[in-house]
Amino acid sequence: MNNNYDHRLINLLVYAMTIESKSNKSINVPTIQIEIIKSNDCDKVITFLRENFFPQAPLASCEPKWIPSAEDEADLRKCIIHYGCSIMAMENDELVGVCIALPKKRSSIDEYYKEAEKAGKTKHGYIMKLLGDTNSKADIFNRYGVEEILYLFLASVAANQRGRNIAGLMTRELMRLGKSMNYEVLSMDCSSYYCAQVCERLGMDCLNSTLYAEYLDEMGEVMFKPKPPHVAMKTYAQRL
Ligand SMILES: CC(C)(COP(=O)(O)OP(=O)(O)OC[C@H]1O[C@@H](n2cnc3c(N)ncnc32)[C@H](O)[C@@H]1OP(=O)(O)O)[C@@H](O)C(=O)NCCC(=O)NCCS
Repeated sequence: MNNNYDHRLINLLVYAMTIESKSNKSINVPTIQIEIIKSNDCDKVITFLRENFFPQAPLASCEPKWIPSAEDEADLRKCIIHYGCSIMAMENDELVGVCIALPKKRSSIDEYYKEAEKAGKTKHGYIMKLLGDTNSKADIFNRYGVEEILYLFLASVAANQRGRNIAGLMTRELMRLGKSMNYEVLSMDCSSYYCAQVCERLGMDCLNSTLYAEYLDEMGEVMFKPKPPHVAMKTYAQRL
């Protein structure tokens, strides 16, 4: 791990620049600070995700809804504290965005399938199977010739702050943080159309796209029916 990077605060500098996007989207985000989430931030981050992620993320919010259990929240806390590479966006002392990140190894694909088997015919089990299938197809580890990557597991922006490119800012900062921690690749599975747009604008490689309408269970039924415009799970990656 490179100590040159400030692990408490990624960027103390106020963003005074204009973020130019691939699609010519040009947004001024002058007052956002990006910080690494610390253990004493966990309560507010979990509350934020309860309000701004689970009820709106396409896979979590489509029927049957994924309402996070106490165990899910404890796992999120462990992940934030143990790996120390999750970040949050603050504006005037208000939490406006969160990215939960963790390392991911080649063995993760087998782990998705094992978890899917353990969870059986539940929402969690189906999501794990989808992640196993999409990550197998994306073939990240062979494609980039690496054994470990930084994985952006969950991105969330406050409902009243969307469309300001805050997710793009956070993802870009996570790339910098990942690089400073000697990761060579950042990857993300986008269940949301808007999230995929963020990755497209950052110029990330799209490695796989699985249409929900074609992803069937053992009875031939479509497993996930999120509302439009969310039509596919897309895996993106970027060499750092
Ligand atoms: C996905 C998400 C993180 C994007 O964050 P963001 O900071 O708003 O991203 P951007 O500002 O770059 O906006 C991305 C695109 O989504 C659009 N958008 C974002 N939220 C929107 C909303 N609620 N309604 C309509 N459009 C929305 C923006 O206009 C933009 O479209 P464009 O590229 O055509 O201009 C955010 O929408 C979110 O938290 N969603 C709920 C949780 C979720 O789905 N997480 C991702 C799971 S993979």
